[in-house]
Amino acid sequence: MTLTSSEKRTSFLHKSFGDRMVAAISPSTGFLTKRLCRQIDLANAKLVIELGPGDGVSTLAVLAKMGPDAHMVVIERNAQFVADLRKITDKRLTVIEGVAQDLEKHLPEAVGHADAVIASIPFTYLFKDERRAVVASAKKMLRSGGTFVIFHQYSLLMVPYVKEAFGPVHKEFEILNVLPAFLIKATKS
Ligand SMILES: C[S@@+](CC[C@H](N)C(=O)[O-])C[C@H]1O[C@@H](n2cnc3c(N)ncnc32)[C@H](O)[C@@H]1O
Repeated sequence: MTLTSSEKRTSFLHKSFGDRMVAAISPSTGFLTKRLCRQIDLANAKLVIELGPGDGVSTLAVLAKMGPDAHMVVIERNAQFVADLRKITDKRLTVIEGVAQDLEKHLPEAVGHADAVIASIPFTYLFKDERRAVVASAKKMLRSGGTFVIFHQYSLLMVPYVKEAFGPVHKEFEILNVLPAFLIKATKS
């Protein structure tokens, strides 16, 4: 069954009801996911890791740009979204129910191999040391030259954390999202 975009928004809202860690009233818009995809050389990426895929809107946008032998691993903490993600029939996708804070525990074999790590988790609800630890783990996963993108953020809270770990950051703003959102990108040297 194909849902209209308004049905998708209602379904997202329903699944996020009572879970403040979703921290969004709607999944990313196509404008934001296109902006996200433009940050990464997805056609040549072999491994992309996503933290906080929600119902899979960003995951599907990324997979659509990746090659047939690529692999995407997503880590999501909301069980209802995990159930949605497990319905995506794409052999390139691995869904893990868990939290971004355990990234290294979940994927020890990926250390140094990811072409990109993307994250839309609500960093504002994490303690400072957790924010720092998630950014450090993402960096550890990346190969040299790999890309880290934080998106669907309602503030620039994470800029100093990303700068501290990666050096220079690139920032963009997408007004056509609910709510309008920042994207922060950095590259592992
Ligand atoms: C703002 S929504 C974005 C969802 C989707 N990526 C999108 O673009 O529409 C944030 C998602 O991160 C998940 N999340 C929050 N904290 C998390 C954590 N510590 N680890 C993994 N997922 C988390 C939430 O359950 C939610 O699905």
